Amino acid sequence: MTTKENKYETLCRTVAAIVETETDSIAVMANTAAAIMEAFDFLWAGFYLVRGDCLVLGPFQGPVACTRIQRGKGVCGTAWEREENIIVPDVHKFPGHIACNSKSKSEIVVPVFSNGAVAGVLDIDSQYLDTFDNIDEKYLSAIANLLKIT
Ligand code: SME
Repeated sequence: MTTKENKYETLCRTVAAIVETETDSIAVMANTAAAIMEAFDFLWAGFYLVRGDCLVLGPFQGPVACTRIQRGKGVCGTAWEREENIIVPDVHKFPGHIACNSKSKSEIVVPVFSNGAVAGVLDIDSQYLDTFDNIDEKYLSAIANLLKIT
């Protein structure tokens, strides 16, 4: 049986190969989002990038999403402000959650650091409640650490 850990181990190797073979960060983020969506039955996976006092939508796979998120707003803006991972088991219970798609029920956001500062966030949405746990957090943090984004 393929466990979640097995899938993430393969995904980490895939992302490492993507990073090793391409220097352009947009291309790397685009294929990373695709690799995540190929590995798992998620609703949406992608990046928001720090641009001034906003996060701006970056490469992603999934339904159309909101394009700008203020620092401290929503799950993404809160993860940026706190500089920490956030797991949301039920998005309807997260104060200020930004609903880009009504199908989204749970979410994980992992900041991506560059030179010690948050350069963006990796955001994943699930159409199911309580999808993400410490295993997702561990591996998605490892993936975020492989990326060099600007
Ligand atoms: N739900 C996020 C917004 C981004 S979408 O999920 C793609 C938030 O509250 O920050």
